[in-house]
Amino acid sequence: AHTQPVDPYRPQFHFTPIQNWINDPNGLVYFKGEYHLFYQYNPYGDKWGNMSWGHAVSKDLVHWKHLPVALQPDRLGMIFSGTAVVDERNTSGLFKDKPGGLVVIYTSAGETQQQSIAYSTDQGRTWTKYEGNPVLPNPGIKDFRDPKVFWHDKTNKWIMALVAGDRVMFYGSPNLKSWTYLSEFGAKEGDHSGVWEVPDLFELPVDGDPARTKWVLKVDINPGEQGLGSRGQYFIGHFDGTHFVNDHPPDKVLWVDYGKDFYASLSWSNLPGRLVWIAWMNNWQYAEKTPTSPWRGAMSIPRDVALRTVPPEGITLIQTPIHELMQLRTDAKKWSKPMTISPGFNPLKGLQDDTFELIAEFELGTATEFGFKVRKGEHEETIVGYDTKSSELVVNRVNSGNTQFSPLFPWEFRAPMRHVRNRVKLHLFVDRSSVEVFGNDGERIITSLIFPSPESRGIEIYVKNGNVKLVKMEMYHLGNK
Ligand code: FRU
Repeated sequence: AHTQPVDPYRPQFHFTPIQNWINDPNGLVYFKGEYHLFYQYNPYGDKWGNMSWGHAVSKDLVHWKHLPVALQPDRLGMIFSGTAVVDERNTSGLFKDKPGGLVVIYTSAGETQQQSIAYSTDQGRTWTKYEGNPVLPNPGIKDFRDPKVFWHDKTNKWIMALVAGDRVMFYGSPNLKSWTYLSEFGAKEGDHSGVWEVPDLFELPVDGDPARTKWVLKVDINPGEQGLGSRGQYFIGHFDGTHFVNDHPPDKVLWVDYGKDFYASLSWSNLPGRLVWIAWMNNWQYAEKTPTSPWRGAMSIPRDVALRTVPPEGITLIQTPIHELMQLRTDAKKWSKPMTISPGFNPLKGLQDDTFELIAEFELGTATEFGFKVRKGEHEETIVGYDTKSSELVVNRVNSGNTQFSPLFPWEFRAPMRHVRNRVKLHLFVDRSSVEVFGNDGERIITSLIFPSPESRGIEIYVKNGNVKLVKMEMYHLGNK
């Protein structure tokens, strides 16, 4: 008999806390060569509670150094989600005669939800809460939280986007301390199968053209519809410093991810020339039940975010894995000669891995479905494929290992995805307890937790009812370097 490893599901290239519960990423900011990652954290247990901001820093978004808890509950309540800015010109006056520094804007969650700030003069190592908190008192709205703050050049002021139950509200400020109501968006737009949470708002070039930009407003929904639970939607439009105007009709819903495990995504502020975000890789449906210990909750891999025109639907949010992850690659394998795959033929035969990256391009043949089976063991597998009849990207975790902790966990995910000149691309990141699939260079994403046995390390290509051409493929072990 052999013993189970102590912590079999601990991700090797995803951020996890050493111990205890985490949820949303918070306060993401790049400052003086460091990426800061704060996160919703319970320092005292592996379920939601005592919400504080945990803290880690990185020089490359891949290797993280854990730091002490940054913000703890106080007389105004727990510390809920929020964001960070660099107050370079000391608009807040919090930095005395020194040049400016980091300010975080978060929700104080006590009897009511209000917005507070704290500042740091030592690169985020210690934090002082502003004595005049809250800076934005509760106006009589139950759910009033998750401030996203950024500097808006054209109107020369700070903007706060926050959620107010079923809508996003915008406030403006010259100094981060006093806030004026500007406008609101969304009571009649998008999906409303739960309260709105964790907004993000940013401007991006379309198809790489800096002369043509659009604004993206991302808003999460909790609990969400019965099926997929808590998840993220986004709107494309224009923000002029006062109003957000949606390009699409109000009933149009654009989904950030078609799996269940990409929630409360947030982008790094103060990162020039690039938009990178990360999300809590979990779902409120079962987040307190996932079978891990002594930690509970992980972050997704960081992703570059862009806008690209994708026919037929138009401008689409594109997510691609950050290039920094390539440094983890070892043991490169390449298949550059096209191969016809028919049932029973597995060019990956004999290969085993539990933490790896796989990139493949297929040309459609007669098969009705094709793709990969990963983390395959005697009795379990996770399927990542493409359904040619319905033109859908598919991830199936029904038989992926331990799925019993919640009836809402075993699931087959489907995302509409076109083929381009008969071709389809799949890019997978597989870790100890997750699969992230990027279809067609980031047009469609499915993020999915899985809890397979550590021995389930098989990899296979499969086809159904015919054949498919594998044009080319690359595979890398992703080591914890
Ligand atoms: C989103 C969320 C936020 C809130 C935080 C509390 O997952 O519910 O709206 O600020 O988590 O932990």
